[in-house]
Amino acid sequence: MKVNLAEQTAVVYGAGRGIGEAIVNELAKAGAKVYVADLIKENCEHVVDELKKKGLEGVAVSCDVSKFDQVDAVMEQAEKETGRLDIVVNNAGIVTLGSFLETTQDEISKLINVNLMGASNGLQAGVKRMQKYNHGKIVSTASFAGRHAMKEGFAYYGMTKAAIIYLTQAAAYAGADYNINVNSICPGIIRTPMWEKILDANVAAGADRETSWHDNLKHFIPLERGDQKPEDIAYAVLFLCSEYADHITGQALNIDGGASMD
Ligand SMILES: NC(=O)c1ccc[n+]([C@@H]2O[C@H](COP(=O)([O-])OP(=O)(O)OC[C@H]3O[C@@H](n4cnc5c(N)ncnc54)[C@H](O)[C@@H]3O)[C@@H](O)[C@H]2O)c1
Repeated sequence: MKVNLAEQTAVVYGAGRGIGEAIVNELAKAGAKVYVADLIKENCEHVVDELKKKGLEGVAVSCDVSKFDQVDAVMEQAEKETGRLDIVVNNAGIVTLGSFLETTQDEISKLINVNLMGASNGLQAGVKRMQKYNHGKIVSTASFAGRHAMKEGFAYYGMTKAAIIYLTQAAAYAGADYNINVNSICPGIIRTPMWEKILDANVAAGADRETSWHDNLKHFIPLERGDQKPEDIAYAVLFLCSEYADHITGQALNIDGGASMD
């Protein structure tokens, strides 16, 4: 299976590092021109510099996904500069570890604004803008934590991810008449800066960093293939953005080493 995205225009939000950066790389390697959007402009510029070293195409744009106008403006720029919009990936996210009772009002608001409204903004703007092309692929990053509540915490993080899975289906209905495929992905545990933040909290509580990491893997992930890499998630996004996924819509694809089976 060889994915060819030559001539296509993609916008990836939350693209400055971690899973987002891996998604940018896979889409660009397949031939897409990728708009690399993130809150942290320097990270976007770094990702684009790395693409250019490999002869690939990217444009760095700063964007706060919690603001609809900023999300829409990135797609508008991409359309103005390339005349098309083929792929949108809503990947930006933040995490808090807290349980249902511990999570503060401020943390709940931030999780909703970034994770849920970020995806909602990308879904609404994306479906509206892609209608005129009668074609498009949109993928949003949910999580295995959105599949069911966990006694370990992640209460409101999981709520935002469950809502993304739901909203993906609502957006898929809206896009269906226009050949716009809308799906989400549910990663397991990948050691990005987001997970380092969780490990920071465990270390502050007295745990050894590496022991805590391996304990979490063992606790959540049945498949014993070792660490999942950001690329493992990016391959699934590449597939969902390709012609091989033309008949897949409204789905949430688990890429989690079996974490969501229990
Ligand atoms: N790492 C994991 O184990 C894991 C598991 C399941 C789901 N996820 C999800 O995958 C996505 C990527 O996570 P990651 O692990 O690469 O984390 P990360 O923290 O390394 O990357 C997240 C990116 O989102 C950006 N971002 C945060 N707030 C933003 C905002 N308001 N506007 C624009 N960009 C913003 C950050 O600057 C960062 O570049 C997230 O949605 C996360 O919830 C991660």
